[in-house]
Amino acid sequence: MYILGIETSCDETAASIVRDGKEILSNVIASQADQHEIFGGVVPELACRRHIDAIIPTLKQALKEASLTLDQVDLIAAAYGPGLIGALHIGVTSAKALSLSKKIPFLAINHIEAHLYAALMSHQDVLFPCLGAVLSGGHTSLVLIESLGTYSLIAETIDDAIGEAFDKVAKMMGLPYPGGPILEELAKQGDPYSYSLKAGHVKKKPLDFSFSGLKTAVLYKLKGPNTNSDKIESLSLSEKCNMAASFQRVAFQDVLSKILLAAETYKTKTVIFGGGVTSSQTLRQLFSEKAPHLRTLFPGKGLSLDNAAMIAGLAFHKWQEKRESDSFGLEPASRIPISSFNPLTH
Ligand code: KG4
Ligand code: ZN
Repeated sequence: MYILGIETSCDETAASIVRDGKEILSNVIASQADQHEIFGGVVPELACRRHIDAIIPTLKQALKEASLTLDQVDLIAAAYGPGLIGALHIGVTSAKALSLSKKIPFLAINHIEAHLYAALMSHQDVLFPCLGAVLSGGHTSLVLIESLGTYSLIAETIDDAIGEAFDKVAKMMGLPYPGGPILEELAKQGDPYSYSLKAGHVKKKPLDFSFSGLKTAVLYKLKGPNTNSDKIESLSLSEKCNMAASFQRVAFQDVLSKILLAAETYKTKTVIFGGGVTSSQTLRQLFSEKAPHLRTLFPGKGLSLDNAAMIAGLAFHKWQEKRESDSFGLEPASRIPISSFNPLTH
């Protein structure tokens, strides 16, 4: 079954063809990061305008790289949320338009659930229940995965998402968006113990995350406590490297300790990671060194950051479920099913 996936929830216009939930025939990503770089974060208005320009060429490229025509596509799936509503509209509306005109069924897919599915695309032999860790620019949560599609939220951030904290710290230091990859690079030349920082602890909720205080502590350490500005102008390269290394160490150590605690509490031996932050080699290395007793599954190449292969991949399973449970499941586009509600939607 050939599935066309479309993803436009933030600043990547992405389209992909995946066969039977696993085999990626194309995974095209038109990133707008360079457009938002100077603003230190995604500008929604700009993102939507870029999606409008990029959506058709991206779709064409995905079909071309997969050597398929639209008529050979069996199902069209698009991310319907969470994300920037204007940006989501462009992907969803394009998908529905193609669906209606070509009479190909359409399925709406949850972006966060798809992030968690990304790691499963290259691993066939996962034993449930296991732990899922979503570490992205918009979300930081831990979920208990009973099976594909059955999730319980067990922890989340009470303020900033971890990727957002990387982006904001980078912005403070005058570095461009997205902050994560740049901080990881600078950290290689820094001393991770040069600044003493602490990640947030949420009262009575030991598994929850809080990165807002850590981010503010970075500002105060660099500029002193009586600052009004949220940007530090004159930092030397070694100060930037040292702060990048210290911040990254504390943020990732916090993720590690909470995942270790969650795995112990919920008696799980496997952790599935998803989201842009999981592209960090430093994070992957940390888990392989400090959590060798856990099976840690990270997304394959091109599947950590926002992409449409994870949307098309998950859609295959959602479609199988619908076929079994819903008599309207095989109706063409006039009926537009939405993938079932789950705690990852908010
Ligand atoms: O999943 P994603 O592409 O978009 C959202 O759904 O939010 O994640 C983007 C986030 C950005 O905040 C970016 O700074 C972060 O992932 N990121 C990283 C790294 N690469 C990307 N964070 C830390 N280290 C990295 N190497
Ligand atoms: Zn994402």
